[in-house]
Amino acid sequence: MMSQGVTVERSLMKETIIGGSLNAFRKDPLLFMLQLHHMYGDYARFRLGPYRFYAVFNPDMLKEVMVTKADAFSKAGAFDEIKRLTGEGLVMSEGAHHDRQRRMVQPKFTRGHIRKYSQQMAQSASSLTEKWIHGQHRDLTYDLFSITFDIIARTMFSYDSGEILQQIKGAFDSINRIATEKIRSLVRLPLLIPTRQNREYTAALRKLDEIVYSIIANRKINQEGDGREDLLSVLMNAVDETDQTRMSDRQLRDELMTMFLAGHETTAHTLAWAFDFIMRRPDIEEKLLQEWSRVLGGDLPTADHFGDLVYTQNVLWETLRLRPAGYLTMRSALADTRVGSLQLRRGDALMISPYPLHMSADYFEDPETFCPERFENAHVKSLPLMAYFPFGAGPRSCIGNHFAMLEMVIIIAAIGQKFRLRPIPNHPPAVPEALLTLSPKGGIWVTVERR
Ligand code: HEM
Repeated sequence: MMSQGVTVERSLMKETIIGGSLNAFRKDPLLFMLQLHHMYGDYARFRLGPYRFYAVFNPDMLKEVMVTKADAFSKAGAFDEIKRLTGEGLVMSEGAHHDRQRRMVQPKFTRGHIRKYSQQMAQSASSLTEKWIHGQHRDLTYDLFSITFDIIARTMFSYDSGEILQQIKGAFDSINRIATEKIRSLVRLPLLIPTRQNREYTAALRKLDEIVYSIIANRKINQEGDGREDLLSVLMNAVDETDQTRMSDRQLRDELMTMFLAGHETTAHTLAWAFDFIMRRPDIEEKLLQEWSRVLGGDLPTADHFGDLVYTQNVLWETLRLRPAGYLTMRSALADTRVGSLQLRRGDALMISPYPLHMSADYFEDPETFCPERFENAHVKSLPLMAYFPFGAGPRSCIGNHFAMLEMVIIIAAIGQKFRLRPIPNHPPAVPEALLTLSPKGGIWVTVERR
């Protein structure tokens, strides 16, 4: 592999003269990033339609962008579409507003605090398996969506989605598919133009807005004396240090929508991939069963067990290596800045993906193979910081990382102890589809067998 970055506009333009590298990127963004890394090393410059991008693959340069020089970059740019969904919520806000919101929300996501959610996490997983019938075929992706959504809704906003869960899932599916298409296409028709796609998108956004605003309105009515301590209460009670005002309904809506969007599909898809790997590898399943029997002995997992469920954690770390739900993020330079040997101009856009690094033989032996054991003995700590970063890094890293790990360990163990999942014969194995998160295309269907 070459160690120098190279400008690739020319070579890729040969393939796709008008759209720059757009066709290759749209067809398979993961493969596109992987190939750029293999061909050009530390970084590459390319065009998507009229826009010019850099892709950065060198861990030291990535550390500058995401950590040491994070203030020199913003998240704006091609992710404007996400902003339509989450507004000024934590994922897309910038500068002082972001720092303030992050400080406010952070205490609800510390390891110590999230422990208290573990019972809810186990309970949601249990209520799912209570519905399962031995020998049944199930859409695992939908089942996992239903519990991760339920967990976020209950723990963060004390909200029970109950009957309307299917409608919520439908709205998220539409948004996921259409937003991805909009992000990847050159021509974005304003939403006011009533194409079929725009009508579906607007209706889905309206549905989610309706739900989120109703959660806020109900809490306002019932707030007095209800003494709740969830994230919604923190947000509603927060007073701005400068002008002593509280958050408007619009600001609350943005933060709620952000948590819903960032906090359920990422974990649902990682879990679905993890089960997919496990059910194809009896040796790994056997090791997990031994760990669960030793640590849990048939009990439901709690936060107290988390530290002892080491192999279960490693299965998830390995899943996040091969199927990083947050497979792509962007930054743009706020001023002329130097990153390693690369001189960036103000406004230059950077594409950042953990996937090519996670698949690099420089850091992971036999990178194509699913091998949770590679996470034993703190191997990852011996790697450069940005050789493995499923939760990002620096001030914009995932605020929900501890929440996600606890939730996923609990769900895998709670389900896996009771049920064996099996691939359905003649069903092709799921392939990754790069939507807003890295999703199993067409879902993952399984046969569930009671142990
Ligand atoms: C497997 C599960 C998850 C993965 C792989 C994941 C991945 C990520 C990544 C890579 C980022 C950084 C994006 C960037 O640098 O632009 C991020 C940010 C974020 N995540 Fe997660 N995430 C997961 C679960 C969660 C959960 C459960 C929550 C909430 C409960 C959450 C809330 C957020 C928020 C609010 C941000 C924005 C933080 C900021 O900019 O200050 N995530 N996530």
